[in-house]
Amino acid sequence: MSDTLHRLQQAHITRLLGAYRTLMQQHGLDAIALYSGHALPHYGDDQFPEFQAAGHFLHWVALLEAQHSWLIVTPDRRPRLVLHAPTDFWHLSPELPDEPWISEFDIELVNEAVAPALSGHVALVGNVDALQDSPVAPPHGDPNPPALVAELDELRMHKSAYEIACLREANRLAKAGHEAAQAAFTGAGAELDIQLAYLGASRQRESHVPYDNIVGLNQHAGVLHYQHYDLHSPGKRQSLLVDAGRRFRGYCADITRTHAGPDAPALFGELIDAMHDLKDSLIADIAPGVDYLALHQKMHRRLGEILISHDLYRGTADACVESGVTRAFCPHGLGHSLGLQVHDVAGLKTPHGEPAPAPEKHPALRLTRTLTPGMVVTIEPGLYFIPMLLSPLRDTGAPINWTLVDPLMPCGGIRIEDNIAVTEQGFDNLTP
Ligand code: GLY
Ligand code: MN
Ligand code: MN
Repeated sequence: MSDTLHRLQQAHITRLLGAYRTLMQQHGLDAIALYSGHALPHYGDDQFPEFQAAGHFLHWVALLEAQHSWLIVTPDRRPRLVLHAPTDFWHLSPELPDEPWISEFDIELVNEAVAPALSGHVALVGNVDALQDSPVAPPHGDPNPPALVAELDELRMHKSAYEIACLREANRLAKAGHEAAQAAFTGAGAELDIQLAYLGASRQRESHVPYDNIVGLNQHAGVLHYQHYDLHSPGKRQSLLVDAGRRFRGYCADITRTHAGPDAPALFGELIDAMHDLKDSLIADIAPGVDYLALHQKMHRRLGEILISHDLYRGTADACVESGVTRAFCPHGLGHSLGLQVHDVAGLKTPHGEPAPAPEKHPALRLTRTLTPGMVVTIEPGLYFIPMLLSPLRDTGAPINWTLVDPLMPCGGIRIEDNIAVTEQGFDNLTP
């Protein structure tokens, strides 16, 4: 860990402590106890799914695999970390990293999972319900009070300099994976080969990725959350879409690139270029005070213009958007907040924690906020050829030029995605 990152992390912890103490005062609390969570074995088995500690716990400590552990914050003592570190000859016992941040905490390593002794008015935050079925009963306290949890979520919306440094490093590591994925595609690799090339170059095991990597060749590029890796290379190579990330100290990169293969129509490559330009122009608009929903709507208008300028739609951009044609070509939102979760918390809330849902016509939009400095968001415009969404338009008389659209169907689609920090002056693109 570099000295700079250490100093930034120290400031991050100081900021968190101040914010938590203010909230404890406002909510009349004597403690907030954050539970890391624990995994349950597969039914009837002794094997566990991959575990990821809860976001509010990770906000304080980068202990991604800490299970049955607690972080307790009080108004007047140093934060207390109760870390479950069983002595076990089957597994490597969790160890504290040799990093300066540990001196900021009172740390207790416990051999058995325990409910920490807590007194007074305590809020328990995390998946404490799961403790009901475990040998350890939940500690005394009020589980997940909604008003407090909304404020803790809100605290995660604006990233500290430490968090932005982590997100930048996650992006740097992911970039190496994307370059290797592109090279594996050029070498006619199957989806699994491309996935393994990505994991190797970004130095991570599959169980540690922030979300399941999407590696789609040809039509699979049009399956938005495509979840398989074909073992065999297809005969024709039209396209590759890779949506893949990396964690760094818990913070997630979420990057997408699309590549045209040797068997794609030339138009597909031109559309990829147009989508890169669209992504860059939407990023250029990012600044404090910008309404993210308005930016999403701008993406739709610009998609309409791209469809028209490439002769895929023979009408006006207004009609293309209003009639729902652009939504059939891009059914997901412009992006989302990014942090300790790939789809980070509080995207569909006001700053005061009230619901701010996505509009009816854009139900997949995950962020409806006005941008302010410290937010980190993705910008991920897409343009897909999804038969299930486009087929119903064939009989509507919509002026879609099927002669050009049909040959693009085997290419699946295009998504280009970068990760952007909102700054006082405008934006900082974290994706190299
Ligand atoms: N990787 C999921 C997303 O882009 O939202
Ligand atoms: Mn994303
Ligand atoms: Mn993504």
